[in-house]
Amino acid sequence: MNTKHLIHPEDFTVQELNQLIQIAQNILEDPQDYKNICKDKILATLFYEPSTRTRLSFESAMLRLGGNVLGFSDASTSSVSKGESIVDTIQVISSYADLAAIRHPKEGAPKLASKYSKIPIINAGDGGHEHPTQTLTDLFTIYMKKGNIKDQKIAFCGDLKFGRTVHSLIRTLCRYNIKEFILISPDELTLPYELKNKLIEEYDVKLQEVSTMEEVIGEIDILYMTRIQKERFFNEADYERLKNSYILDSSKIKLAKDDMIIMHPLPRVNEISYEVDKDPRAIYFEQASFGVYIRMALILKLLGVDCTCLK
Ligand code: NCD
Repeated sequence: MNTKHLIHPEDFTVQELNQLIQIAQNILEDPQDYKNICKDKILATLFYEPSTRTRLSFESAMLRLGGNVLGFSDASTSSVSKGESIVDTIQVISSYADLAAIRHPKEGAPKLASKYSKIPIINAGDGGHEHPTQTLTDLFTIYMKKGNIKDQKIAFCGDLKFGRTVHSLIRTLCRYNIKEFILISPDELTLPYELKNKLIEEYDVKLQEVSTMEEVIGEIDILYMTRIQKERFFNEADYERLKNSYILDSSKIKLAKDDMIIMHPLPRVNEISYEVDKDPRAIYFEQASFGVYIRMALILKLLGVDCTCLK
């Protein structure tokens, strides 16, 4: 069986990632050309963990391509509540849909499903591990707002330990000759050691770790904010102690470059003050909108739909 899945960001080469970005840009410019291209195709969204943007942008993407969607957004309403394993579920769904996006609290669950699946599986977030389609959204956003992905100085701020969006984006950006990574986090929520080591040993990237935003905000091109994730903590007291570690407000962005962009995978809790939303450098809502186009491009790629003739 030679079905293509997207489980880890490394499942696509840089060339394939660039092709996806190109297709997403074509779709954004001429959405009409794509509106029936997936007629008769079905996407299943199997969400075992809460989601707003990822699930709905996948569904919007498939509907905008003329396809259909089915699935569940609350595993308690599916046979999971009767004890069914993901392995059994996916073998059944394989005959109901043409591809499936799976979000699961357990690391590795989408990968396990892909081993038993006849249809392409997309990892829509597995625990604190990976979130490759948020990475596609982030890459497309950086490309659209900055004109290129390499040569950027990017700072990640917040929960770098459990933040799956951070893990997947860093794994991808290191393949793009990024200028420098700056990691801003409390000591308890630093980037996992294996990932940090990989960056240094395999990619020889320039890496700086700091504990405040103020000391670096004036020199960065991209500030990637993240939420402190309550659901990943084992104890409420630790979450309460760390939840307001970083709050980006107007006084801090006064120190930033005029063309710095502020990204966030969302949802935001406290880490960006609402007053920042008005600043032209705050592009997180536009970032969420780019997620639809890149997911349209991904669906076309995994279904093997050739759309090169459209451009
Ligand atoms: C992120 C996630 O689910 O990992 N959200 C998203 O998919 N856009 C980030 C988060 O939940 O904090």
